[in-house]
Amino acid sequence: MKSALLFLLAPLAALAAPAVESRQASVSIDALMKAKGKVYFGTCSDQGRLTTGKNAAIIDANFGQLTPENSMKWQSIENTKGQFSWGGADYLVNWAVQHNKTIRGHTFVWHSQLAGWVSNIKNKADLTSAIQNHITTIMTRYKGKIRGYDVVNEMFNEDGSLRSSVFSNVLGEDFVRIAFEAARAADPDAMLYINDYNLDSPTAAKLTNGMVAHVKKWMAAGIPIDGIGSQGHLNAGQGNSLASAIKALAASGVKEVAVTELDIQGSNTNDYVAVTKGCLAEPKCVGITVWGVRDPDSWRPQGNPLLFDSSYNPKANYNAIAAALQ
Ligand SMILES: *[C@@H]1O[C@H](CO)[C@@H](O)[C@H](O)[C@H]1NC(C)=O
Repeated sequence: MKSALLFLLAPLAALAAPAVESRQASVSIDALMKAKGKVYFGTCSDQGRLTTGKNAAIIDANFGQLTPENSMKWQSIENTKGQFSWGGADYLVNWAVQHNKTIRGHTFVWHSQLAGWVSNIKNKADLTSAIQNHITTIMTRYKGKIRGYDVVNEMFNEDGSLRSSVFSNVLGEDFVRIAFEAARAADPDAMLYINDYNLDSPTAAKLTNGMVAHVKKWMAAGIPIDGIGSQGHLNAGQGNSLASAIKALAASGVKEVAVTELDIQGSNTNDYVAVTKGCLAEPKCVGITVWGVRDPDSWRPQGNPLLFDSSYNPKANYNAIAAALQ
């Protein structure tokens, strides 16, 4: 009875599917981005947002890539040693797979939103095995479903030196090798990224002395780094500078670069266009991810930094990006 009913309903569902919600933007910036030879235009989400309002409908229609906003962070997914809480991450991954969206895994080695048991580790052997087990377990579960991961996140100070964290304090910079080697072994097909913020100017010490100098050195030493992610949490007026920074990051010799968490305070349309054109102009730039759908759901909502307003209407920012891609 149940299967007969499903059989009857399936053609109706297929007929109904093309109807686009009236509030979605009529043009997909993801489709336009792909038409320019890029891999995606994406956003972040998680189960809460995907089951609220028009988020799922907008993401399905207008974006081609998803990053879990919180569900894969260490304290979310392995808050107790060896006990993995898969619910949120599984929801995001399953939704993305069902809707044919590329996934960026985010994030493994990060000093923030870290589990307390990891912060308390004092010796190299325990921290090494914690990193290896964490990365191996997650990447094995999602093998073949996740295109790439932010393996290391926010490890540099503004002057380009290493941030003090349990990772650098216990292991020195060797934690980078440990993390990337574990990731490569767990899923040899995944693109492995190092990701950071304030990589928004080609002359910033964090970019030159920090990211680019270290990534060059580490790649020369055989550490399997494939890409650099620039988060792109911008203030108005920084768009052109980030576009130049994308080129400087690509010149490090990595296989690819991406803008991974873009939001722009003051909703500056010119800045969104500049970043979009900056990615188009750099052959190694695979795509842009904006950090959320609607302004009020942003982690810094006061600057209305995203592409959709509180009523889920596409803003001038969205339309300007679409125009720049046409
Ligand atoms: C899924 O997306 C890819 C591009 O990322 C596209 O080539 C493919 O046709 C899509 N498949 C379906 C079933 O829509």
